[in-house]
Amino acid sequence: MSKSLQAIRGMNDILPAQTPAWRYLEGTLAKLLGGYGYQEIRLPILEFTELFARGIGEGTDVVDKEMYTFLDRNEESLTLRPEGTAGCVRAVLEHGLSGGGQVQKLWYAGPMFRYEKPQKGRYRQFHQIGVEAFNLSGPDVDAELIVLTWRLWKKLGLADSVSLQLNSLGSSEARANYREALVAYLQERFEQLDEDSQRRLTTNPLRILDSKNAQTQALLVDAPMLAEYLDEESKSHFEGVKARLDAAGIAYQINHKLVRGLDYYNRTVFEWVTDKLGAQGTVCAGGRYDGLVGQLGGKPTPGVGFAMGVERLVLLLETLELLPSELEQSADLYLCAFGEAAEVAGLSLAERLRDALPGLRLLVNSGGGSFKSQFKKADKSGARFALILGEDELAARVVGCKPLRDDAQQQNIAWDALAEHLAACLQA
Ligand code: HAM
Repeated sequence: MSKSLQAIRGMNDILPAQTPAWRYLEGTLAKLLGGYGYQEIRLPILEFTELFARGIGEGTDVVDKEMYTFLDRNEESLTLRPEGTAGCVRAVLEHGLSGGGQVQKLWYAGPMFRYEKPQKGRYRQFHQIGVEAFNLSGPDVDAELIVLTWRLWKKLGLADSVSLQLNSLGSSEARANYREALVAYLQERFEQLDEDSQRRLTTNPLRILDSKNAQTQALLVDAPMLAEYLDEESKSHFEGVKARLDAAGIAYQINHKLVRGLDYYNRTVFEWVTDKLGAQGTVCAGGRYDGLVGQLGGKPTPGVGFAMGVERLVLLLETLELLPSELEQSADLYLCAFGEAAEVAGLSLAERLRDALPGLRLLVNSGGGSFKSQFKKADKSGARFALILGEDELAARVVGCKPLRDDAQQQNIAWDALAEHLAACLQA
């Protein structure tokens, strides 16, 4: 017997019952971003592997363990994008969008791919909506990006369910100095580190700060702190971000251990987290990456951005029952037609109604059926009215208009008066 075909683990279908929630979230955010001057950019899903190796960094979990990488028929190494920032920077450079200090404010949406252990809120194909701003170096834009996300949370009803974690990683030199001090401290305690952290000590030591291992965390209590290594400029940049968030009334928690899993960050980094989703609680994350454009071959160009996880946000909206009820779109009308002639007339009548009433949700019965079965389908569709077209109605050029959601009487309405009649009924 042949095995039934299944989707790849961690790669989900988004079923019709879920798509209205996705569209609601995507639509709300797209509108909001437009209001802040961000423009949409659409980027390829596949890129040369080198882009991510250079951009995100060798030694990161994403590059070392999680990429979907393969050779194409031309023997070139390609990778399904694990995130959007590197590709966005590549496109900006390739099309000269940031040349001459031009400010670019861009957003993108779409699937990303990481070979992670699938669980609730963590998938191998997941979706992000990401935002990137180029050639803006001050703390004002960092703060504005956070203010913008805060506005989104308020709009979605999530403001009480998410909190902001904030840190500064300083300049790349400051980070390098800190890295050295941290490695020296942990090297002396190597035997007490968990296995993963032992490995990270050579590949990506800052990520040890993120370790979930209790013994490692205990060791870190007396470890050197990143904040002590910040350069003066980064310190004042960070003060600028905080002052603006304070003025905007946005609460935050300084988390000295927030270092992020991608190598390109410097200065401000942030994460919006929730305690309502279990272990996968980060719904939006980002920060500044002033070195990335240069690292990928461009002139030094400041950059800052974030990405939110669409699955996690939809899950959060569902869990907290915050999806607007009008997302469940049932039909307005269901047209029942009995017999070939009525079906023919019904189709063109339906088109006339669609012309006259834009936005009308009208289901025309298909596949024939008895009076009883068509009514059953009309009822199930959620429609407020059934339109009935049989031989008698056809001869009299009327339609029976039967209310399905209350006890009001069925009325016969002339075809020419039908659109006006229905407009009034549907508004009531
Ligand atoms: P990231 O923290 O790797 O950052 O991902 C951003 C968000 O994507 C996470 O906070 C989470 O909500 C979602 N996410 C990540 N991995 C998964 C997964 N396996 N399943 C479900 N959701 C996931 C970035 O990707 C950066 N490019 C963000 C950025 C843009 N920084 C500056 N600009």
